[in-house]
Formats: sequence, C-alpha cells, structure tokens
Amino acid sequence: MIKIEGVSKQFDDLLAVDNLSLDIHQGEIFGLLGPNGAGKSTIISMISGQQLPTSGSLKIAGHSPVSNQSKRLIGVAPQTTAMYEELSALDNLEFFGSLYGMSQGDLKSRSDEVLEFTGLSERAQDRVKKYSGGMKRRLNLAITMLHQPEILLLDEPTVGVDPQSRNKLFENILDLKAQGKTVLYTTHYMEEAEKLCDRVGILDHGKLLALDSVDGLIDEYGGESQLDVTTADEVITLGTQHPVAELQEILREHSNITDLKLKRPDLEQVFLHLTGRHLRD
Ligand SMILES: Nc1ncnc2c1ncn2[C@@H]1O[C@H](COP(=O)(O)OP(=O)(O)OP(=O)(O)O)[C@@H](O)[C@H]1O
Ligand SMILES: [Mg+2]
Repeated sequence: MIKIEGVSKQFDDLLAVDNLSLDIHQGEIFGLLGPNGAGKSTIISMISGQQLPTSGSLKIAGHSPVSNQSKRLIGVAPQTTAMYEELSALDNLEFFGSLYGMSQGDLKSRSDEVLEFTGLSERAQDRVKKYSGGMKRRLNLAITMLHQPEILLLDEPTVGVDPQSRNKLFENILDLKAQGKTVLYTTHYMEEAEKLCDRVGILDHGKLLALDSVDGLIDEYGGESQLDVTTADEVITLGTQHPVAELQEILREHSNITDLKLKRPDLEQVFLHLTGRHLRD
C-alpha cells in the first residue's frame, strides 16, 4: 500500500531520514518506534506529500504522494493537532470536510458517524477550547477519518492523552484495522507498539535498524528472560533464553518453591540491544 525505496531527507547538514526502504501492507497496523528526533514525523510528511524526499522514491498504491489519488487515499493526523479552538467540533468537521470537497449531505452524515465513532457526539456543539487534551486528539482522529481514507497516518496520537481517551483511541485504531484500513502509527512508547502493531520498525537517527513483528523483534534482539524463583530458603535469579525448560529443571530440583516471577524481554531491551541506549534517555 505504501512503498518506500531508498528515501533520504536532508535538512542542511542534518540527515533526518537515511536511505529508508519499507513496504507497508494493506490492512496492517505498522508502528514506527523511535525516540525524539528519530525522523518519524519527517517520514509521515513525505508519505503525505507535504515534504519531498531529497532522494529515493515513495508510492501510495502506485501513485505519487503529491497526486490527487494519494490525497484521497490518505488521512493524516499530525503530531501537532490542527483545529480551530474557537469553533465547535461539528464546525471544525464542516470546515475540514469542505476542504476535501465533500457535499453538504455527505458531510452531515459523515460528521455524525465520526463523532459517534470517537465518542464525542455529546460534546459536538462545544467549542474545542473547552476540550481536554485527550478529546482534542480524538477530534483530530475524527477529522482524519472524515473523507473515509484507506490509509491513516497517525503521528504520536496519544501524547498528552488521559487514560480514558487513550483507550478509546486504541479501540478506534483496532476498529479501523478490522474495517481493512491501513494504519501507520508513530510512537516513542514501546507499550503502545507492543499492544497495537502487527509489525514494528525501530528507527533511530533516521535509520531503520530492524523491522519485524513484536515477537519476532523480541526473539531476535530481546536477549534473555529473567526468572526469579523463591524457595523456603533462597531466591534463585537467573537469565535464560529458555525459561520453560529452565523452570522444569528447577521444579525437579526444588520441592519447596513459594513464589515465581518471569520477566520476558520487551521492546525496551530490543532498542537497547540495537542502539546501546534506552528508548527514554
Ligand atoms: N524543517 C526542518 N528543518 C530542519 N530540521 C528539521 C526539520 N524538520 C525536522 N528536522 C530535524 O530532523 C530530525 C527528525 O525530526 P522529526 O520531527 O522527523 O523527528 P521525530 O521522530 O518525529 O521526533 P519527535 O518524537 O520529537 O516528534 C530532527 O533532528 C529535527 O530537528
Ligand atoms: Mg515527530
């Protein structure tokens, strides 16, 4: 659905995106996971045709990102939410819908649908400046979905969001996938990538360091699980690639086990292994 081949983006002396090649498939939630400045937003802006790459090629279902076909296929929720604070949610939707060239009838029914979908129907008439950060993010998604794009580019959609709105956003994103939409999701929260994404690309300093399913990444780069076994007289702590086999061995050797803890590696360990740094440095 999105085909990126050898794409680089240079800003003066900074290489923000470094020879990126990536295919995002129809119907998947693809996560781009990387710290501040990794190049996530720059990639989103090239896919949506807002910035041109310095070199390389991008295609959206075979079309150039700046073509009208691509504009119809793509909905983008920018990292900095773009909406009018003095207007109500409904008026914002009307404004953005008219930019997409939607007819009045379409716009009315579609606005109701997206407000319902994002759980904002009851607050539709309120001015956006009265919304919480989480509600603004949900409206941002509602605006993105208005023209029924096949591809949604969501740039850190949960930053500054309360837990309730976050759960609603997750639910919405999984629903969009169930409808067959393709979602590109950027985040620097590994928990979100683990929870939502079918495949994850690890990005640092503009370079794609690894790409796989979450389990695939953890198997390949996560390292050892940590097993803590408490018996009546000691705590045994060990690192192992094969926690189940190790546990069976321990159970054979000790009859007085009182507690067990197994910590499997997560994307944090994957990032540490690939970059030598923590994701949250
Ligand atoms: N218009 C620009 N001019 C110059 N440098 C830029 C421009 N846009 C981005 N950069 C730089 O390119 C790099 C990548 O920025 P980008 O915004 O894509 O990162 P990001 O992964 O989205 O970060 P964040 O998590 O903070 O949103 C950064 O070093 C940033 O300062
Ligand atoms: Mg960004």
